[in-house]
Amino acid sequence: MRLRDRVAVITGSGRGIGAATAIRLAEEGAKIVVNDINEENANKVVDEIKSKGSDAVGVIVDITKMDNAKKLIDTGVEKFGQIDILVNNAGLNRDMLIKDMTEKDWDDVVDLDLKATFFCCKFASQYMVERKYGKIINISSRAWLGNPGQANYSAAKAGVIGLTKALCMELGRYNITVNAVAPGMIETDLLKSHPKYDQMVERALKNTPMRRVGQPREVANVILFLATDESSYVTGNIIYPSGGRF
Ligand SMILES: NC(=O)c1ccc[n+]([C@@H]2O[C@H](COP(=O)([O-])OP(=O)(O)OC[C@H]3O[C@@H](n4cnc5c(N)ncnc54)[C@H](O)[C@@H]3O)[C@@H](O)[C@H]2O)c1
Repeated sequence: MRLRDRVAVITGSGRGIGAATAIRLAEEGAKIVVNDINEENANKVVDEIKSKGSDAVGVIVDITKMDNAKKLIDTGVEKFGQIDILVNNAGLNRDMLIKDMTEKDWDDVVDLDLKATFFCCKFASQYMVERKYGKIINISSRAWLGNPGQANYSAAKAGVIGLTKALCMELGRYNITVNAVAPGMIETDLLKSHPKYDQMVERALKNTPMRRVGQPREVANVILFLATDESSYVTGNIIYPSGGRF
């Protein structure tokens, strides 16, 4: 029970990597604030956590709006008294060549993958500074290094790396660590709903030493390490659960 008495906010935790992380952290004793725009999925995760003997609350808000991000963090503090861990996981992609990419395709991805991460960091860190304790884990992607057809996503995920490095410098003196996790291909509904799923996986596996896609729990275990005090002197880092693909 490495996270007993800790409180974690996990954005986009109704399914996929976020849900696996919520459940993994709860198994270690953390109380979880489950955020999603999909109420049914969020409620299922809350119920599963409660059935495992930990506590959770669902906050159904779209975090691309600043007031909603504030509400998410404030609700966590009202319900559980503190925020120790923030996992900025909610993300989406809208892949296409730049010639076809509209302003909306750009904004939708950047607003969720980057701007909402800024909002949640901004509000959660204020509580963390007061208590001189905090673990911020930002979910980037190995695609931050660049992928054809992912200009918006790669730019947003590269922005997440810059944000992580800047906040590491700004918040370290308050005993707050800020790290990024940059997964390779992870078998989630997001990946499986990709119109070129088979083609994409086939191409990626050629450059993946482990020759398989990853599972959400394999990312959740990395996030768990960064959320516990076992990583107390690790900050400003990027960890790649990617089967060796860079
Ligand atoms: N699956 C992969 O291969 C992979 C690889 C690298 C990085 N990632 C990143 O990991 C994170 C999770 O990916 P996933 O595959 O689990 O995705 P997913 O689509 O399965 O889950 C994302 C969740 O975010 C929620 N969400 C969407 N918009 C939201 C909003 N405005 N406010 C709150 N919640 C919202 C969705 O409802 C969904 O439940 C994302 O940041 C993604 O970019 C995924």
